[in-house]
Amino acid sequence: MASQSVTKVLSQDLESTLREDRVFPPPPEFAAAANIPSLEAYESLYARSIADPESFWAEAASELHWFEKWTKVLDWNLPNAKWFVDGKINLSYNCVDRHALSDRANKTAIIWEGEPYGSDGTSQIRKLTYAELHAEVQKFANALKSLGIKKGDRVAVYMGMTPELAIALLACARIGAIHSVIFGGFAANAIADRVNDSQCVAILTQDTSYRRGAQIQLKKTVDEALANTPSVQHVVVLKRSGAEVAMQQGRDHWWHDLVAKADPTCLAEPLDSEDPLYILYTSGTTGKPKGLVHTTGGYAVQTYLTTKYVFDLGNPNHPDDVYWCTADIGWVTGHSYVVYGPLQNGATVLMYEGAPNHPDFSRFWKIIDDHRVTIFYTAPTAIRAFIKWGNEHVEKHGLDSLRLLGTVGEPINPESWMWYRERVGQSRCPIVDTWWQTETGAIMIAPIPGAVPTKPGSATRPFFGIQPEVVTREGDPVPAGSGGLLVIRKPWPSMARTIYGDHERYQKTYWSDVPGCYFTGDGARKDADGYYWLMGRVDDVLNVSGHRLGTMEVESALVAHPKVAEAAVVGRPDDLKGQAVVAFVTLESAHNSAATTPEALAALKEELKKWVSKEIGSLARPEEIRFTDALPKTRSGKIMRRLLRELATHGTIQGDTTTLEDFQVIAKLRESEEG
Ligand code: WTA
Repeated sequence: MASQSVTKVLSQDLESTLREDRVFPPPPEFAAAANIPSLEAYESLYARSIADPESFWAEAASELHWFEKWTKVLDWNLPNAKWFVDGKINLSYNCVDRHALSDRANKTAIIWEGEPYGSDGTSQIRKLTYAELHAEVQKFANALKSLGIKKGDRVAVYMGMTPELAIALLACARIGAIHSVIFGGFAANAIADRVNDSQCVAILTQDTSYRRGAQIQLKKTVDEALANTPSVQHVVVLKRSGAEVAMQQGRDHWWHDLVAKADPTCLAEPLDSEDPLYILYTSGTTGKPKGLVHTTGGYAVQTYLTTKYVFDLGNPNHPDDVYWCTADIGWVTGHSYVVYGPLQNGATVLMYEGAPNHPDFSRFWKIIDDHRVTIFYTAPTAIRAFIKWGNEHVEKHGLDSLRLLGTVGEPINPESWMWYRERVGQSRCPIVDTWWQTETGAIMIAPIPGAVPTKPGSATRPFFGIQPEVVTREGDPVPAGSGGLLVIRKPWPSMARTIYGDHERYQKTYWSDVPGCYFTGDGARKDADGYYWLMGRVDDVLNVSGHRLGTMEVESALVAHPKVAEAAVVGRPDDLKGQAVVAFVTLESAHNSAATTPEALAALKEELKKWVSKEIGSLARPEEIRFTDALPKTRSGKIMRRLLRELATHGTIQGDTTTLEDFQVIAKLRESEEG
């Protein structure tokens, strides 16, 4: 934990920056038809869920299909939780079969829209009913089996947003194979790191995917990664665009060939509640990204219930809801709220392949109107982009189908929240600002939309069964209104169980900083009404356009460049991205003297930016690179990030520098700034 920034959070005077007086009660017409229709209903159920969380969660679990019921709801021995002990369940069954085998069989499960427009000005659209999804998932599960993939095997998934991506996850879950989805924006090295860490036996990919009018070469990038991934025996390639790709005999298989040969029936495997469902890599403060492991039963229950209550899905008053979460399935939001949560609720899920600004800035609004989307869930960084692009794009569209809006991924500033409410929600739709993490698996703090009044900028109140606290570094609660660290004391069903292959790191990272608690890494404040205001990370994790990035990852990529001696990476507040990556770099001495002209420095900066994109992916590309002769360090040799953050943000340093080893460094840093 970076203690300087913790101190800053603890002492921050937030009263001056946030307006608590703006309160928006749920619209009465929304509340009247909602799953949870009033504040009283929320409060009494919340009180019950906290008084006896085990019966609360058991009741929720009973709404799902189990092959065998659990013998015990919770087995807790910090930091090890087992939920629904001995229960046998299958998430693919709960997402697909449960509906396909009911009167919802012909209900649309997935509506998919491709990015490119054809010559006739229309885009490609596919719809799958629950019965069709059932058939596809079974065939693909058998295709995986035909390659010898079995329960417990790890399967990497590196695809674009196609229905087959959802089918891939559900097919893995069906046979008990553990999926590890790698976001399609990651570079070959990042794929290899992840595949090797969990020893994946196969990679599922596609020829190319479309993004902002360009084709992303997914298979080609996989081929590059495969040079260093000895565990991979099979590559399955979905033909999306028909672009030419190299296929290696014996190793590479076309998706459609395998499926054509596959048996149509594959029964869902009864899995133990604690069998792993997936691994998802996320950034931390040190080392390489961590593979967080989510298991089956508890994750199923909490993603199901949060979707039902926070997004008001599975609501008998709204059987025709069309739900659209814009997250890529490469991130946890896509896992929990594109695939597992909404499908368990039997909802119609919209998936869109591409960018919000292709072919123009109104693409999202056109999609909402074309498909009559009722629930729309996106990220603050996207909202800030919409604001920048101008109101005219939103105003061109009716958006009258919408009834509920959501945000996730970073704190939303009240101005963006108000714009979202007025322009997109037309002051009619409640907004659910949902706080959670890859580690929590599902939503933890968010308003229940028919019940809890909202305040712009606050994620409001905890979900049922969840008791967050704001504490000091020692674990003592801070008074209402003061900043502190956000922790959770009790286990919850969808919590990550471990870091793949490194349980000790799991304990150390999450359960050791604040005694007896899960430490989120976030700073927060709770106001007098019990509302939580999230204040961002207090550690060295950056949030760039809603994506988590460890400063250490970018630093490691930079120092791997032959010309770089040392690097320190910090975040600078950015109007659009939330945070922008700024890297302070010292060069190997030979290059230091060579790169003296402004042109040479500019070229080297560009080279380093490209290098980081190539090493990690363009999401990590530094916004700015600053060269310096040395980095400011404390007497014990730690890089003084606080100073660098200040320098990156303001260009000057005001704080206390008495522990600096070399005061000269600051002067040099300033000198090295050019233009
Ligand atoms: C941040 C994404 C404020 C937070 C689901 C957290 C938020 C990190 C919110 C997790 C929110 C997420 N308000 N901050 N509503 N939602 N965050 O693992 O800093 O990609 O720790 O999970 O995003 O990011 P992750």
